Amino acid sequence: MDSFLIKGGVPLHGEVKISGAKNAVLPIMAATLLTAEPCVIHGVPNLSDVKFMGQILAWLGAQVSLEGGSVRVQAHKIKGQGDYDLVRKMRGSICIMGPLLGRLQKVRVSLPGGCVIGARPINLHLKGFAALGAKIHIENGYVRATARRLAGGEVFLGGRAGSTVLGTANVMMAATLAEGVTVIESAACEPEVVDLAQFLNAMGARISGAGSPTLTITGVERLHGAEHEVIPDRIEAATYAIAAAATKGEVTITGARPDHLHAVFDKLHEAGVRVERAGAALTVRRGGRLRAVDVTTLPYPGFPTDLQAQMMALMTLTPGISIITERIFESRFMHVSELARLGADIEIEGPSAIVKGGQPLSGAPVMASDLRASAALVIAGLAARGATQVNRVYHIDRGYENLDGKLRALGARIERVDES
Ligand code: EPZ
Repeated sequence: MDSFLIKGGVPLHGEVKISGAKNAVLPIMAATLLTAEPCVIHGVPNLSDVKFMGQILAWLGAQVSLEGGSVRVQAHKIKGQGDYDLVRKMRGSICIMGPLLGRLQKVRVSLPGGCVIGARPINLHLKGFAALGAKIHIENGYVRATARRLAGGEVFLGGRAGSTVLGTANVMMAATLAEGVTVIESAACEPEVVDLAQFLNAMGARISGAGSPTLTITGVERLHGAEHEVIPDRIEAATYAIAAAATKGEVTITGARPDHLHAVFDKLHEAGVRVERAGAALTVRRGGRLRAVDVTTLPYPGFPTDLQAQMMALMTLTPGISIITERIFESRFMHVSELARLGADIEIEGPSAIVKGGQPLSGAPVMASDLRASAALVIAGLAARGATQVNRVYHIDRGYENLDGKLRALGARIERVDES
């Protein structure tokens, strides 16, 4: 098992190119199950989650080849049942349900179960499938959905925390091959949902309203193969922006989509961080003293929950009190106790964390618990005095392509050590 050994205190300098978006490529890979024809996806990041999704598709019977940042999938003949263990291991794989139900009118997968950041039920996914006429059964740890013929319908997909990203993706994919028109209300508006809709339309689907809370899908008889370039990863881009500010550095981010990051850059601006745009390149640096700001996570276009931990790391370095409220996942504060090991002063009050920032951090061994929490620990380690060891970085490899290599190219003193 690998760890990162970080010697902090070095301002990051230079240029970093952003990779394709993990949360776009996973549902897009699943969508290739909707056709027997070959599909080719470009801009695919080299991540363990991507490899995992490839294994799941191959297990279902698809031919999958991952090479040089592109994946080619041909799901000529497939089965409707996902491997119990494979699906259980990666929550994102739940998005094979919609395509399998759409194409085969039957699907059986293991219930994903919760994870460290929350219970993460799939009731809204199932509600959407039922609105298309599917019968839902839950037995022996599996969920099964069957239908004689899917038929378009109307469904409201808003839940406890607002819209659901993969729920919207799943129901949208199933509806592409349903008879008639489906309308999804309170649909997720994330750029990754829009990217998926664009890929589906390239396959011959008829989807309108992507990016708005009302999605309309007119079912078609069949879909064909298509080629697509995945959008860049907005969470990766913002993670480097926050790392630049935390280390008092100056970093130019290339290959990102600034129009996907308004809420983040607005909050960074409020905190005293400068983000200058030249074409698509974004140069980030501190514009003087940092200011403590309050942050509340919301569905897109609000401030993303996947940046809450990284923003908290920045606020531990900022003089003053900031209140960080997590509205999407009920237990996404695993990083708090690890940041405290580095000397941060944070108190949790219900859905909020009260950060008393400004005292210098000092290096220590810390434990990664989930993908974004680990990124926050790396940022804090880069800003801390002395050495920090971040253990279990396999969490990071799930969602950041070559993080340590990219940081080293920006001057960071970080190395990957194999602990086994
Ligand atoms: C996606 O997860 C992302 N994952 C998550 O990124 C991201 O945090 C999340 O959207 C929110 O932006 C992928 O795209 C692979 P949700 P998803 O359904 O779709 C509740 C990362 O770090 N809910 O939008 O699973 C749910 O419990 C990961 O890259 C229901 O109650 O998230 C949560 O509280 C972590 N019932 C809220 O909605 C449902 O049926 C939002 O979850 C579905 C969701």
